[in-house]
Amino acid sequence: MNILKFHSDEDLAQAGANLVVSLLQSKPKAVLGLATGSSPVGVYEKLVEMYRKGLVSFSKASSFNLDEYVGLPADHPQSYRSFMNQHLFSHIDIDMAATHVPDGNAADLAAECAAYDQMLEDQGPVDLQILGIGSNGHIGFNEPDASLSGGTHVVDLLPGTREANARFFDKPEDVPNQAVTMGIGGILKAKQILLLVRGEAKAEAVRQAIEGPITTQCPASLLQSHPNVVVLLDEGAAKWLK
Ligand code: GLP
Repeated sequence: MNILKFHSDEDLAQAGANLVVSLLQSKPKAVLGLATGSSPVGVYEKLVEMYRKGLVSFSKASSFNLDEYVGLPADHPQSYRSFMNQHLFSHIDIDMAATHVPDGNAADLAAECAAYDQMLEDQGPVDLQILGIGSNGHIGFNEPDASLSGGTHVVDLLPGTREANARFFDKPEDVPNQAVTMGIGGILKAKQILLLVRGEAKAEAVRQAIEGPITTQCPASLLQSHPNVVVLLDEGAAKWLK
């Protein structure tokens, strides 16, 4: 793992955006793996800024998002589709039809998961997968468990994850109980992975992920088995690393 620590959020976001931009410059048709959450927001802001300056185009690129809540219509303000439109897609020249987010409102979720994996198989592999991390070590919505799924699947969200995400909803009980997420196998198929982490609240998860044993109880620790991972941390997130 290539681990870099930054003193400012701005520099961290810029470093993440630079990786995406250099990929698109060398490969305009790149397949981007995208994440939601507060961690990648700064990178998306920088990408929009660089697009506006004419430094990058997304017109030939495509994207696959990691996850989506079950039961929220795509146009719900807290859906991950809305998040992506709001923070990135509406501000750049990406072809909306080439942006993929699992449909957590599909009538047949098993079929939706299989179709998502088939699209990834046909159009992938993902060139660069952006990831955040949950404070319990989850990536996408792959929660710590005795075993992990390889492909895209429906997951029951743990109480701590629902609590952490309650800040975005009017009432805690509005947070969906389930999500559709790409599996660990799907995530690890990306050619390169960019893990972004900010804040001391994630320091223990970062330590477990990077220096702990590889275990399904910390899904992010599986990243240790990937040959090309870049980790961008702020000082808080790096606090417990040796
Ligand atoms: C969410 C998402 C993850 C994200 C994580 C951390 O639940 N499903 O993909 O990485 O939690 O979010 P944040 O960056 O806001 O702390």
